[in-house]
Amino acid sequence: MILKLKRTPGIYLVGFMGSGKSTIGRALADELGWKFFDLDDQIERREGVTIAEIFETRGEAAFRQTETTVLREHVRSVERGQPQVISLGGGAFLAQENADLVLNHGVAIWLDCPFSMIERRIANQTHRPLARDPDKLRCLFDSRQPAYARAHYRIEICDDDAQAAVRQILALQLF
Ligand code: S3P
Repeated sequence: MILKLKRTPGIYLVGFMGSGKSTIGRALADELGWKFFDLDDQIERREGVTIAEIFETRGEAAFRQTETTVLREHVRSVERGQPQVISLGGGAFLAQENADLVLNHGVAIWLDCPFSMIERRIANQTHRPLARDPDKLRCLFDSRQPAYARAHYRIEICDDDAQAAVRQILALQLF
C-alpha cells in the first residue's frame, strides 16, 4: 500500500450526481474489506431528515455546513487509522475547505462520467434538489468539472458496470 494510505487510509470518491459514487464505493469497500460510508446517508442519519428536506426547510447553505461537519468527522476517524471508502455528495468536493480535508487525508478519485449517462440515470428523480431543472443541471455539470479535476486520480466511467470501475481503481496500484 502506498505510504499516504498507510498513514491516512481514506479513499474518497468524488464526481457529479449520478456518476455511481455510492454503488462503486460500496463495491470497492467490499473488495478491500474496508468500511464504506455514503456522506449523504450519514447526513440524513445524523439529522433525521432527508437531504431534500434539509434543502427545503433550512436552505443549501445550512446543508453545506452539515456536509463539512460530517466530512470532518470521517476524516478524523481516517486520521485515527480507520480504513474507509467514503462517497461524497456531488457538491461536497467544491468547497476549498472540504477539498483540503480530503486531499490531505488519503486519496481522492474522480468518477468522470459523461453528461449523457448522468441525464439518463437521474432523469425523473426528485430526491436530488439540484437535479430537478435539466438546463440548470447541465450548467452545474459544466461548471464543476475543474473542481473535480483537483482529485488525485480520474477514472472514466463509460457504462453501468460497477465492477469494471472497481477494477480500474484497483489497477491504480494504491493498495
Ligand atoms: C448534491 C449532490 C447530492 C446531495 C445533494 C447535493 C450536489 O449527492 O449531496 O443533493 O450539490 O451535487 P449525490 O451526488 O450523491 O447525488
